[in-house]
Amino acid sequence: MIDLLGDWKRTDYCGNLRKEDKGREVTLMGWIQRRRDLGGLIFIEVRDRYGIVQVVFNPESNHEAHEKAQSLRNEYVVGIRGEVVLRPEGTANPKLATGEIEVIAKEIKILNVSRTPPFLIEDEEKVEENTRLKYRYLDLRKPSLQSNLILRHRLAKEVRNYFDGLGFLEVETPMLTKSTPEGARDFLVPSRLSPGHFYALPQSPQLFKQILMVAGYDRYFQIVRCFRDEDLRSDRQPEFTQIDVEMSFVTVEDIQRTMEGLMAHLFDKVLGIKLKTPFPVLSYDEAMDRYGLDKPDIRFGLELRDLSKILSGSTFKVFQEALSGGGIIKAINVKGGATFSRKEIDDLTRFVYDYGAKGLISARVGKGEWQSAIQRSITDEERKAIERVMEASEGDLLLFIAGSSKVVNQSLANLRLHLGKRLGLIPEEEYRFVWILDFPLLEYDETEKRYVAVHHPFTAPKDEDIPKLKHCPAEVKAKAYDLVLNGSEIGGGSIRNHIKEVQSLLFEKLGMDEKEAKDRFGFLLEALEYGTPPHGGIAFGFDRLAMILSHSESIRDVIAFPKTQKGTCLMTDAPSKVDGKQLDELWIRLKV
Ligand code: AMO
Repeated sequence: MIDLLGDWKRTDYCGNLRKEDKGREVTLMGWIQRRRDLGGLIFIEVRDRYGIVQVVFNPESNHEAHEKAQSLRNEYVVGIRGEVVLRPEGTANPKLATGEIEVIAKEIKILNVSRTPPFLIEDEEKVEENTRLKYRYLDLRKPSLQSNLILRHRLAKEVRNYFDGLGFLEVETPMLTKSTPEGARDFLVPSRLSPGHFYALPQSPQLFKQILMVAGYDRYFQIVRCFRDEDLRSDRQPEFTQIDVEMSFVTVEDIQRTMEGLMAHLFDKVLGIKLKTPFPVLSYDEAMDRYGLDKPDIRFGLELRDLSKILSGSTFKVFQEALSGGGIIKAINVKGGATFSRKEIDDLTRFVYDYGAKGLISARVGKGEWQSAIQRSITDEERKAIERVMEASEGDLLLFIAGSSKVVNQSLANLRLHLGKRLGLIPEEEYRFVWILDFPLLEYDETEKRYVAVHHPFTAPKDEDIPKLKHCPAEVKAKAYDLVLNGSEIGGGSIRNHIKEVQSLLFEKLGMDEKEAKDRFGFLLEALEYGTPPHGGIAFGFDRLAMILSHSESIRDVIAFPKTQKGTCLMTDAPSKVDGKQLDELWIRLKV
């Protein structure tokens, strides 16, 4: 029943045929999307990577082909020979790019059959994600996934064009390497030849790209796979791809301009969108103050305002307690939100509980008074001052949270995003970039009881803050930057420590003694002694960028073979057990 391809050669792609092809004899290859048997005529839709075309079998003009067409089922693979004709008047299908024509079949080859697929290959079909991932080869046949992977391909190609045009070199760095911490856990690979020793898969090529600068390569980039064993979210994968960049003899501004150029190039070439550069900048402090997080979505307002000063003398207990405990009070103003029902406000309160807030205080703004639990506890002056800062007027709804700055910021930041979406305040089609600068270099980790690097341990302090590194490390700002697009951190980087003494001091502040620093990063410290140029770089999350540009909900929709939230591959069943012999060769005995 299966025909051989023989000497058939494809002349056209199904999805490319148009009315200009009228009268042409074509040979098409593809998959059966749908078959409709109208008693006499049989219509099939044939799909390939370029789209779908309708093919018609007429029992009167071609009995044999019509007979064969009766056995066709979804996902059978076929070759069709026939003639392109205009569809009869009134039967054009405006939803299909090929909708004005159809192909009258003269010959058909059934090149392969298919089991009944577990789901229809259609974007509109709602299919459970685990089923999609198990049958990824079927899922990948869908137009939406195909267009995502095409977009991804074009992005990668334009990344290479852009950097090549500026004299950057793409250099590959090892996958089997020594651990280079970026804040996540490593994936380890046991070494057969060195019993008891392990390689780590790179969390990023960080140290290698710095060493390429020591080696004089001046401008490096790479589209590179990175591996991080961390908790997964909708925008994270255990293996993901970076556009990784490093440059010598540069300042923060040089890197900003070059990367704005990259974004402008990609948007222009791939989406046909002209971006306005330079991108706006927020300091880390300002981002935290106005948005409560360091990756603000600046497509809409609803900004946070700090009311701690105005309310410093407040008699309201919740406020008093927060402030005396070193905390803060912040609020957002939902314009026209006074119409929110009690239940709606209760729902918002429950929403912020998830972020650690103990409560949400609301105030419906009226004429010279508020409808609120705090109405009686605040003075007229306080009320007026708050209305001024919040730019509040009659009919608005103020939402306050008091507590530690961490809790207040994260609950209000998430509430802002939640309300932004719910109230339709976010212009979905807009792309708004913002640089975040002046991050702290270090932050104190309460669980580990030591300082940890906010970016990574190779980031340079701001020149003027180097003297503070010894005695007040918490006050030191870094030469680090993140690029945020529509509320998503798409890239981050820094100027590095090219002076050995500064790098060594930083390791010390991170709680690493000399021996540990030498064991882990001896090769870097040594390289720094052989003429290291000032240098810096950045890395972009390539999958995240593709995800935003394709308007995908999940990072998995822009990766051909992604992992689940649990880090498994449902198609291949990885990770899986290995046999004892393999473990013996690796000198490994399992505890489980
Ligand atoms: P960073 O750790 O900030 O920097 O990573 C750079 C960018 O990579 C993306 N990203 C991820 N994407 C998907 N899944 C993940 N698990 C994941 N983790 C990170 C983010 C992020 O902004 N070596 C430094 C860069 C440098 O300093 O030059 C680095 O890797 O979009």
